[in-house]
Amino acid sequence: MKTIVLTIDPNEPSAEAIAEAARVLRAGGLVAFPTETVYGLGANALDVSAVLRIFGAKGRPANNPLIVHVADSAAARNLATDWPDSAARLAARFWPGPLTLVLRRCDTVPDVVTASGPTVAVRVPAHPVAQALVRAAGVPIAAPSANRSTQLSPTRAEHVLHSLDGRIDLLLDGGPTTGGLESTVLDLTATPPRLLRPGLVGIAELESLLGPLTRAMPVGQALQPDRPQPLPSPGLLPRHYAPHTPLECVETANTERILTLQREGQRIGWVTFDVAGDTPSGVVRRVLPANSAGYAAHLYAVLHELDALGLDRIIVVLPPDTDDWLAVRDRLRRAATD
Ligand code: TXA
Ligand code: MG
Repeated sequence: MKTIVLTIDPNEPSAEAIAEAARVLRAGGLVAFPTETVYGLGANALDVSAVLRIFGAKGRPANNPLIVHVADSAAARNLATDWPDSAARLAARFWPGPLTLVLRRCDTVPDVVTASGPTVAVRVPAHPVAQALVRAAGVPIAAPSANRSTQLSPTRAEHVLHSLDGRIDLLLDGGPTTGGLESTVLDLTATPPRLLRPGLVGIAELESLLGPLTRAMPVGQALQPDRPQPLPSPGLLPRHYAPHTPLECVETANTERILTLQREGQRIGWVTFDVAGDTPSGVVRRVLPANSAGYAAHLYAVLHELDALGLDRIIVVLPPDTDDWLAVRDRLRRAATD
């Protein structure tokens, strides 16, 4: 299959490009598009064979359910049997935006979308291209991140092509995404609500509205991939969002470890969030912003870039263990090899 790429203005998407993408979606095709978090790989959520094509293109296990993207809260409500007060309050505050709500699902949502589970994950994206696309398509859009399963999520069109060129019908290239990390996933079927995946909507913001949340298991105790039943949230799998190059997280910007690896002949990439300290010669260093939003926006692009250099190892200095950095630390831990 030839993947068609249409360049689109991220702020004022052209009506023709959106109409073409909507046509492909309604015809059962796969369209990758930018959201405010990462690029998504969309299919008509009500078309079983179209959704199955997402799993095929990504190599995604069938027990990993998909997020359904809709234009507004009314459309989200149509997919759920329950619309708790917490959902109404969260939707009013954070939608459109990078928050995914897990709700009890309606029968209209095909099993293939929910991995046959009793819930559905829904989100109203804020990105003008994603908004225009869900509106023009007129159907809910199931969309995981537009990457091969377990690999790094794409924040640029070139990342999507790198992993899915020839496997999808259309890519809307709207330039780099601004948020850079996947949405926060919150399970409202649990009491209190359970944070399944930290993301761009921070836990402090959620707790100020809802009171204390339950947090999903830390990475070390995460579920095993060979679990037969649908996973509560397969984003909880220990290894996920990972580059090909082995990635190691360290707590401080100490160069001892790097020098040791270099003596063994290894070529090292080094990701810090602080310009301080000398860079050992031969090391490819990238300095990310020292605030969590700026860091999140650029993290995947830096990992994609370092991954393409064929280094032996990427060493990442972990940002502080505070709620502000929860999502970033979560993704780094999952990207780590050991
Ligand atoms: O920012 C995002 O959420 C991006 C953009 C494209 O919207 N999408 C995304 O999708 O990250 P994906 O498939 O890569 O991650 C979805 C996460 C997975 O961890 C999945 O297991 C979880 O949401 N999930 C989906 N449906 C669920 C459900 N019914 N119950 C619990 N977890 C669910
Ligand atoms: Mg993903």
